[in-house]
Amino acid sequence: MNNPNLKEQVDSRRTFAIISHPDAGKTTITEQLLLFGGAIRQAGTVKGKKTGNFAKSDWMEIEKQRGISVTSSVMQFDYQNKRVNILDTPGHEDFSEDTYRTLMAVDSAVMVIDSAKGIEAQTKKLFQVVKRRGIPIFTFINKLDRDGREPLELLEELEELLDIESYPMNWPIGMGKGMEGLYDIYNNRVELYRPENYDGERLIPLDENGEIPASHPLTEQSIYTQVLEEVELLKEAGDEFDTEKIARGEQTPVFFGSALTNFGVQTFLETFLQFAPAPYAHKTMDDQMISPYEEEFSGFVFKIQANMNPAHRDRIAFVRVCSGTFERGMDVALERTGKKMKLSNVTQFMADSRENVQEAVAGDIIGVYDTGNYQIGDTLYEGKLKVAYEELPSFTPELFMKVTAKNVMKQKSFHKGIYQLVQEGAIQLYKTYLTDEYIIGAVGQLQFEVFQHRMLNEYNSEVIMTPMGNKIARWIEPEDLDERMSSSRNILAKDRFDQPLFLFENQFAERWFADKYPNVKLKSLM
Ligand code: G4P
Repeated sequence: MNNPNLKEQVDSRRTFAIISHPDAGKTTITEQLLLFGGAIRQAGTVKGKKTGNFAKSDWMEIEKQRGISVTSSVMQFDYQNKRVNILDTPGHEDFSEDTYRTLMAVDSAVMVIDSAKGIEAQTKKLFQVVKRRGIPIFTFINKLDRDGREPLELLEELEELLDIESYPMNWPIGMGKGMEGLYDIYNNRVELYRPENYDGERLIPLDENGEIPASHPLTEQSIYTQVLEEVELLKEAGDEFDTEKIARGEQTPVFFGSALTNFGVQTFLETFLQFAPAPYAHKTMDDQMISPYEEEFSGFVFKIQANMNPAHRDRIAFVRVCSGTFERGMDVALERTGKKMKLSNVTQFMADSRENVQEAVAGDIIGVYDTGNYQIGDTLYEGKLKVAYEELPSFTPELFMKVTAKNVMKQKSFHKGIYQLVQEGAIQLYKTYLTDEYIIGAVGQLQFEVFQHRMLNEYNSEVIMTPMGNKIARWIEPEDLDERMSSSRNILAKDRFDQPLFLFENQFAERWFADKYPNVKLKSLM
């Protein structure tokens, strides 16, 4: 379609995900961002955690209207001439492969860290997926209103555990009860937490020496002098601010703040929007790059959300737009099957008003109603574009279950169901190497629940699942395989492409194996 404003629209898009460990404050910061963008009117609307007060949410309205769960999956708002798309990465009990795959559909990521806890397990896992993509990563160190760890120590931990350079965009002036404000290195100003305690001004510009006017009462506080010294040290010993390294995900700009008291969040948002990239070209299977300004529409499916209500079998396929302009009712082709599809029943995630008819361009996400046509990784394209985007990676599962059909007479529907759910990317399938018993693997418990539910409701197959617990899955080259390598501390299995792998009991078992067979290379998926 000819859209004269395509370039301008694409350039205004900022599409990112927030990655964090549960409780670091992802929801709280998301709400603040939505408040700035005018997308919600009141905090506590994204997930009515404590009160269970879901009805307030604007997103629930969409859900009610569409009759399917899209709550918080994609949140869109406009801010300072940018259209911001935040893609939710479910954690806790909702953690699944979809969480990882969502990271394949964003152009940058924001990592939220609890200042008292530092880098936690889930943050690290999600970080590694983002790092491998080589996209920009921004860090927000949260909960400054509480006593946390020393800022320098936090930066050191970040560099050591995550192997990324850090550049502090601002520096806390005290924390907990003693939090006075932020020394904003990037914007050359001091941002006061309680301006009313001073002369009422919230933002105080720095002079050429990097100081605020000597007459300001803050200068009498010892913490202020200490911060000046720390900043001096950072300037001498720290890394230089490097936009190219940021673009490649080799340096992370670090912001401090407190999401709960809404301190430092707006500064973060505004600075982030300056450096976060607009959508870029996407790679195809045959190594072509498709420009986001390409006129014909294309996109790929990165997530399929099944409706858990048995009365509705429909699902939503989440499509990341990569080029062209989406228009309701447009005809596209599904690359894998060549089938023509009409995109009429589509959920868009609007900025201000759901009534507005908006176009979706590269960077935007559309939710396409699916009656079973789509699979994760599918490409859709318009007209003659005929592209197939790169396959989405598979992620090493960590949880495993043995699975059998309850009713032996119903093997056919059991196999059909498993086969289709595996194809769709809902679960991973393995078999024990010699005995061909079915093992399913997942990165999160939720995937098993969805699997069991859908087997029953969509394939009329009741399954028995026997937990095998956490395992470390490592692939080996078929030529390295000797069946005698299998022992009581590992299980020899094959994946659905018949590639051999070991499921190790724990790290000890993996190390023991590596020591015993030093020439066998153990590999993980992404
Ligand atoms: P998550 O989505 O990353 O899991 O975290 P969420 O925002 O739900 O925040 C987890 C807890 O941390 C919440 O408290 C929240 O109020 C608190 N929190 C978030 N940001 C800050 C901050 O800047 N400072 C302080 N002091 N606390 C913060 P909760 O009591 O567990 O939950 P709730 O019942 O109050 O929602």
